[in-house]
Amino acid sequence: MTAVPDYDAVTAAQQRTWSDGDFSMVASLVINPSENLAEALEILPDERVLDVACGSGNGAIAAARRAWGNTVGCDFVPALLERARERAAAERLDIDFVAGEAQALPFEDASFDVVMSIFGAMFAPDQQRTADELLRVVKPGGRIGMANWVPDGGLSKFFAILVKHTGGPPPGTQPPVLWGGEQHVRELFGDGIAELRTERRANRQHSARPSTTSNSSAPTSARCGVPSSRSVRRAPRRSRLICASTSRSSAETRRRS
Ligand SMILES: C[S@@+](CC[C@H](N)C(=O)[O-])C[C@H]1O[C@@H](n2cnc3c(N)ncnc32)[C@H](O)[C@@H]1O
Repeated sequence: MTAVPDYDAVTAAQQRTWSDGDFSMVASLVINPSENLAEALEILPDERVLDVACGSGNGAIAAARRAWGNTVGCDFVPALLERARERAAAERLDIDFVAGEAQALPFEDASFDVVMSIFGAMFAPDQQRTADELLRVVKPGGRIGMANWVPDGGLSKFFAILVKHTGGPPPGTQPPVLWGGEQHVRELFGDGIAELRTERRANRQHSARPSTTSNSSAPTSARCGVPSSRSVRRAPRRSRLICASTSRSSAETRRRS
């Protein structure tokens, strides 16, 4: 019999992990997926946008440039939200950064035209509850967009190394990279969506080698925990970009359940 995971305990442990160090040092090197996703979602001025698991604000900032502000970013690490606020303030962008958890979003039903997540919601351990939450907060007829790492990409290999050294994921939880598979996403969203589009993309990851870094503004591997720059440069990280539109009737069905 498969053990039912203690999702609260897993989430609390993950929160501690994401709070360790300063992930914004890494995130500031991975801007393109946010810009690409915001473009694919065709965000319009005055649309209300939510970036789930926004970290230091990459997605929210990309969205706010298109929505003329009007954007909310949500993450469970307060220090990353603080970084996000600093960045938004520097660009005079109207973004509200709030503390919140992807499996229990602190927002009313149907409050956003667009809900996006860049390598964020995919990490929440209860994948079905997370998908249900993304559907719950988007308006009927709205769009959900995600950038997710794929199961056969470079990041999966990196995760496999982590698992080797940390003892593996809690029993019963599913690997986050399953979100990079179209069929899995289709099953999670079920009849809550009217249309699903996915696109596989390679993401070139820039990082500096500590021993050869002359530019002090570039974070080194040692400081920010980026894996060996050489292998990262040679193996582009593959991710899948997902855009899903909710249909009015199915979104209502979801709300009833
Ligand atoms: C790889 S980072 C991506 C951050 C940001 N979306 C970006 O593109 O730079 C993953 C982010 O997900 C957040 N996160 C992970 N699990 C979460 C959860 N269950 N609820 C809220 N945030 C979560 C982490 O705190 C972290 O900021």
